[in-house]
Amino acid sequence: MSKNISANQTCNLIKNSQFVELSLLISKLRSGIWLFGIPSWLFGIADRSVALFSDGYISPIEVLHLFTASFFFMGWLSLKPETETSLDSSEVGALQSYQYDSPLRQHEVYLSQAQARMLELKKQHLISQEYILPVPYICQIYHLLNLKHLETVHNFSLNNLKVIKVSQLQPTTIGGKVKFQTVLVSPFNALRIWRQPIVEVELILHTPYTVELRIPVYNNKKIIVIFNALPLNNNEHRFLVDIYSNLEWPKPMLQGILHFAACLTLFEDLPYLHQLAQRNIQRLFNSGKGSNQETMWLFRRFVDLYGASLEGSQQVRAIEAEEIDESVLSSSAIANN
Ligand SMILES: [Fe+2]
Repeated sequence: MSKNISANQTCNLIKNSQFVELSLLISKLRSGIWLFGIPSWLFGIADRSVALFSDGYISPIEVLHLFTASFFFMGWLSLKPETETSLDSSEVGALQSYQYDSPLRQHEVYLSQAQARMLELKKQHLISQEYILPVPYICQIYHLLNLKHLETVHNFSLNNLKVIKVSQLQPTTIGGKVKFQTVLVSPFNALRIWRQPIVEVELILHTPYTVELRIPVYNNKKIIVIFNALPLNNNEHRFLVDIYSNLEWPKPMLQGILHFAACLTLFEDLPYLHQLAQRNIQRLFNSGKGSNQETMWLFRRFVDLYGASLEGSQQVRAIEAEEIDESVLSSSAIANN
């Protein structure tokens, strides 16, 4: 994969990686200073308490000193640095704990890129889900970047949502971005609670492992989903789903709805992923190369950037099965739902 990335572009990515490391360092420094302040304030309160009672006479000025120290101590406690910026937090930590078979520098840079984006969104984080799925990683990437599967595989949960137009295609250094319009055909679609009937959705391939989906909801609010698909071996990958939003709904309610929605969409995706896994993986690459459909543009971009190295790997050769026509694949997945 690294062959496709110029030294200049790699430099930018390494800068991002350094930014993440710097953020972590600053976060640790702030937490350290705060922790050091606690015994200091406790010592001050203890000192004022001893002074108050030592002479058997309680003077107003000594009471004032004790209250002042206690007040500042309470204030100090409320200044506790947010642990949200810590890389030990669950969703970013899950990425960090991931170990790749061949620890290339480029691979670390990709993970740092994903971590940087997730730290950027951290304050809006709502839920995380993590799965080990028994299908090759490339099947997950194909599924995520195939816009049309929203209409077929997710026909039930999205209630006849249609992709009506791809409005922007933008290649980036190590990925690309697609903007596309979706329409809620049914007037009774429950998604109308969240969004306008027609909205422009963005799908971004950040790295070969990280995909972001941005969905506008009412009043300039957004729901952002970060998918991380991390290959474990030729037949398994780790799949991480993190959902963020600046919606001002009660957080527990929003988290409950999003957990349910994420589980439902995965339940719909599983038969589709299994059928992709039975397909000759080489066919997936060829369908990416050969397709002129704009709804497959982002997968073609993935194949252009990373196809050569993946095609030569065992991961591609490992799966040999009969070719299955895409339309049959989609309809069969729906039937299984
Ligand atoms: Fe899906």
